[in-house]
Amino acid sequence: MTTKNEQLAARAQRVLVGNYKQQPIAVVRGEGVHVWDADGKRYLDFIAGIATTSLGHCHPKVLAALEKQAKQLWHASNVFYTEPQIELAERLTGASFAERVFFCNSGAEANEAALKLTRRFQRDRGEDRFEIIAFESSFHGRTLFTVSATGQPKYWKGFEPMVPGVKHARYGDIESVRALVTRQTAAIIVEPMQGEGGVRPAPAGFLKALRALCDGEGILLVFDEVQTGMGRTGKLFGYEHHGVAPDLMTLAKALGNGIPIGAMLTTEAIAKSLVPGTHASTFGGNPLAAACATAVFDELTTGGVLEHAQIAGEYLAGRLGDMARRLGDRVVETRGQGLLRGIELPGEAGKVIGRCRELGLLVNAAGERVVRLAPPLVVEHVQIDEAVDVIERAIVES
Ligand SMILES: Cc1ncc(COP(=O)(O)O)c(C=O)c1O
Repeated sequence: MTTKNEQLAARAQRVLVGNYKQQPIAVVRGEGVHVWDADGKRYLDFIAGIATTSLGHCHPKVLAALEKQAKQLWHASNVFYTEPQIELAERLTGASFAERVFFCNSGAEANEAALKLTRRFQRDRGEDRFEIIAFESSFHGRTLFTVSATGQPKYWKGFEPMVPGVKHARYGDIESVRALVTRQTAAIIVEPMQGEGGVRPAPAGFLKALRALCDGEGILLVFDEVQTGMGRTGKLFGYEHHGVAPDLMTLAKALGNGIPIGAMLTTEAIAKSLVPGTHASTFGGNPLAAACATAVFDELTTGGVLEHAQIAGEYLAGRLGDMARRLGDRVVETRGQGLLRGIELPGEAGKVIGRCRELGLLVNAAGERVVRLAPPLVVEHVQIDEAVDVIERAIVES
């Protein structure tokens, strides 16, 4: 007899494009930090839709905002003004370096907009600058421009030619960046902590050095905060740890707590280059998504969630450090910031992840050897204890 999970997997494989390697369960319900699969098994969710459902599943305040907006207006397009989008932009600009926001629907679209804008801005000020410097092991999305910026050649294979003018420096190595700068460099795009590339925080001083380099050379600095933004690192934006601000920043993932929405934030001067007709999105900043994201923002910033995430992040780091010491050479390193943590193993992470799932804990991989933990920011200490106990057992048993 097949289980409901197996039946759904079989149906999926008959009709869906096989571009994902799913874990072998179908998730049917979520509440707070837990989800349930199609056979009724409950899991502690330490991946949160890949750092996305940061307030937990079906958060009551986000649900209330969704229901309220759903009764009023779902969509009008950007042919008209809609108030939820304006409200959200007011909050984001009020809390960051930025003065202007462009809304879209995903991280890739936010980065696509940012990269396009950097070229356009440079051209508008009479500079023939179109080159983009990104980093090895980075991840910026799957559109052709953003996957070209993504510093992982395995994602380029078969899609060449890539967008011209994109170069990759070594993450954390300012000299390797300097070596790639030319009079045609338009922008540098960087994650304040590499997520998909293995949960690697930027070394101290690196973002500051990039800022100084950009200022000296007339280059725009883009921070991709799709994964690190909205409290994931313990501050609202990851760049706040580094004492520097970018010229452009991108957000998605946790911005809507699972309702698809992305954003590209920048200064008034740079935003001027996107005059009517230059860039657009039908759904971008749609009232439903924007109303949810505004509720998420308010809960994060005034509901005490950010402060909680900081404390919980330190607690998780401490527990993981203790675990690594107990496990000796079964763990290479634990690292990260806030509630985005990686456990680097000497071998493939897949087996440990599978064993965690059997034991009732959902995590995923960031690169081949790194187990990534990105629990909801509202996670409690007892749930962190439970998760670390499961991970330790899974590593020992795998
Ligand atoms: C740093 C970063 N940028 C961009 C993206 C792409 O976002 P999306 O999958 O929403 O297009 C991701 C997704 O993992 C990401 O981690």
